[in-house]
Amino acid sequence: MDAKAPSESFTEMTELVLPQHTNAIGTAFGGVIMSWIDICCSIAAMRHCGRVSVTARIDALEFKAPIKVGDVVRLTARLNAAFTSSMEIGVRVEHEHTKTGKRSLCANARATFVNLGEDGKPCPVPSLLAETDEDRRLAAEAAERRNERRSAG
Ligand SMILES: CC(C)(COP(=O)(O)OP(=O)(O)OC[C@H]1O[C@@H](n2cnc3c(N)ncnc32)[C@H](O)[C@@H]1OP(=O)(O)O)[C@@H](O)C(=O)NCCC(=O)NCCS
Repeated sequence: MDAKAPSESFTEMTELVLPQHTNAIGTAFGGVIMSWIDICCSIAAMRHCGRVSVTARIDALEFKAPIKVGDVVRLTARLNAAFTSSMEIGVRVEHEHTKTGKRSLCANARATFVNLGEDGKPCPVPSLLAETDEDRRLAAEAAERRNERRSAG
């Protein structure tokens, strides 16, 4: 399996917040944003592995600013690290100010996806080819988190 750079699986998704996506105060319902996060990460994982992967974990999810009905929302997902059968993916959710094109961060999260083989069991993923210092930093931080989780049992 050839190693792949994070840029090869980088995923961008754009959504428009409609009334059915909102709560009683007219801001986006957290569960809808979480579903978009899951889809965006899932596509990045599929692009890296070339097959379907499942969500094992979503953590560090923070909603930093409300998203309103009528807002254009941009989601981006990038692989932070690839391990044996799992991948850590970082995701950002931004409000795109359509008049100016400027973007502001509304939410972010990290997800772990596991690649499954034909038998439905975890199977190896291609290595992640770190090309930049940022790629190396993100991969090292993800490895540290994974080690901490494993030593915590
Ligand atoms: C995720 C899942 C496939 C892992 O299966 P498993 O038999 O526990 O697999 P293993 O213990 O061999 O672990 C496989 C990999 O997953 C990782 N993993 C498993 N559970 C994890 C968790 N909760 N958080 C982070 N990583 C996890 C392991 O660290 C391992 O990574 P590595 O191969 O890179 O070292 C299984 O728990 C599952 O099917 N969960 C339900 C997934 C689902 O339905 N998601 C929602 C819909 S997509």
